[in-house]
Amino acid sequence: MADQDLPVVRWQEPPAGPAVVLLDQTRLPFEEVELACTEVPALVGAIRRLSVRGAPLLGIVGAYGVALAAARGADVPAAAELLAEARPTAVNLAYGVRRAERAHRAAADGGAGPEGAAAAALAEARELHEEDARASASMAEHGRSLLAGLFPGGGLRILTHCNTGRLVSGGEGTALAVVLAVHRAGALRRLWVDETRPLLQGARLTAYEAAGHGMPYSVLTDNAAGSLFAAGEVDAVLIGADRIAADGSVANKVGSYPLAVLARYHRVPFLVVAPATTVDPEAADGSAIVVEQRPAREVTESAAGVRAAPAGAEAYNPAFDVTPPELVTALVTEHGAVSPAERDSMAQLCSMSRSG
Ligand code: MRU
Repeated sequence: MADQDLPVVRWQEPPAGPAVVLLDQTRLPFEEVELACTEVPALVGAIRRLSVRGAPLLGIVGAYGVALAAARGADVPAAAELLAEARPTAVNLAYGVRRAERAHRAAADGGAGPEGAAAAALAEARELHEEDARASASMAEHGRSLLAGLFPGGGLRILTHCNTGRLVSGGEGTALAVVLAVHRAGALRRLWVDETRPLLQGARLTAYEAAGHGMPYSVLTDNAAGSLFAAGEVDAVLIGADRIAADGSVANKVGSYPLAVLARYHRVPFLVVAPATTVDPEAADGSAIVVEQRPAREVTESAAGVRAAPAGAEAYNPAFDVTPPELVTALVTEHGAVSPAERDSMAQLCSMSRSG
């Protein structure tokens, strides 16, 4: 296993750069390898094939992408468009891109010149990177204390889906940052890691992070979750989010919604952990969230590229699903925990996301 010491994203100055250097998540957990993107199209390709992924990190990388376009003297609005549209569901991507683009334009309009405007875009990307690290630390503490209140005796068995740790964040992540805080407090009995078909973000990435932190964990097929609930082995479900609509509907990795239904049936708390930048006040409800459809071969072939279905088989391969607010026990952001079914709380969160 790799050492887990490379940053998930970093800015590379000349002469080797300018470049956005990513920890290539398609190579984990077997190899820890960096991927240097010196042009925006290469970065867009890396986003599309999930070399870099996870909502908050996509926002940070999108902002660095605008800085890269500016530093290379490329057409910044055109590059921003390409970056913002690289993947449709995680609202953080467009948020990060637009923030850096706005900073670039403001500097240019203020007479900064190309170098000054590029520096302003880079400064904004760095600021977003740091803000996300701070948000991650706050979410971890809010989530930990919420769980400590619900389960004062500790010994928690937490089920999680997809990957929500340092690999998606400027800090230690969202849902997995909470799990880590529970673990550090000595209150984690077991982390149940859904493998997360078809791209195995759970088996490959969450297990890799859990092992790095010395957590007690087990990987399970997504289909095994039901029997685990039925056996009374799950105390809480913690997941992240790619976009949260104004009504509290949560888009997250496909397979999250069935877990919410299971959790409700078995009366297990279902917690969504995400920074306020993941709240999209423009999406009135879940139906306004665009769910990315991924290529059929991700389902019809194994991860090693071996065919798992007849040649020419069609596939249904949505990358995300949407959980309605009434199935979410609490939404944990850097501002604290709210019930997404409460309209006032969601309205307040929407206003915070706008100012973010
Ligand atoms: O397709 P991915 O791997 O980018 O999907 C990521 C997820 O669904 C995460 O759970 C989500 O981005 C939340 S991470 C804070």
